[in-house]
Amino acid sequence: MSKFVVAVDGPAGTGKSSATKRIADLAGLIHVDTGALYRGVAYLCFEAGFTLDFDESDQPAIGKIAQKARFEFKRVKKQNPSNRLIVNGHDVTSLIRTPDMSMMASKISAIPGVRNALTGLQRTLGLSAPSILEGRDIGTVIFPDADLKFFLTASIDERAKRRLDELEAQGGDTPSFEELREQIRLRDEGDSTRAIAPLKKAEGAVEIDTTALTLDQVVEKMAKLILAKKKELAI
Ligand code: DC
Repeated sequence: MSKFVVAVDGPAGTGKSSATKRIADLAGLIHVDTGALYRGVAYLCFEAGFTLDFDESDQPAIGKIAQKARFEFKRVKKQNPSNRLIVNGHDVTSLIRTPDMSMMASKISAIPGVRNALTGLQRTLGLSAPSILEGRDIGTVIFPDADLKFFLTASIDERAKRRLDELEAQGGDTPSFEELREQIRLRDEGDSTRAIAPLKKAEGAVEIDTTALTLDQVVEKMAKLILAKKKELAI
């Protein structure tokens, strides 16, 4: 591995995205949100007419959708969020954060053809510059030799509360706390029991329970280790 790679894994709502975005700016790393790629494929699946109860016989077609998809991450300063995801030429950034999209992303991410289609792209992005990647299998499958690995956790109630706050801030219809909690529980179960690349702590990963920590505290803990590692490797 020629560049500097930090792997950050963990279930939904543990603060991965917020922390890694801040750390990327702080430590001069590019931030790669790998969940957004799975969400991009989920978007294309809904667009192609698939529903959340697709069955096993649909898997090859969904795998093909992922293989044919073209992804682009763009920074557009005047828009919020400024990190935009373009899939097959469409800016899907504001469409991929709904609860249905989360559930579809989790379901299609268990399909081997989908995972294979996204593996090369994640490695290319991670090696294009010193980077921090967040997802479910970064430290176990995508970059098992990452320079530093983190595994974030938090109680399910705290994670559901954070998701609720996030969705309320976006405006529009918001599910109840109980609904969100159940969706997160189902997603955790699917993501950590699937046959390939299940969510689990990578060997050597630093585990941080973020339940009682503020975002600043999480960033501080992670940044300290990352900056020390960069110094050690003279990056
Ligand atoms: O991080 P996120 O909530 O945006 O991810 C959405 C789904 O994508 C998640 O439930 C499982 C899948 N995913 C994955 O399987 N592997 C990754 N590296 C990232 C996400």
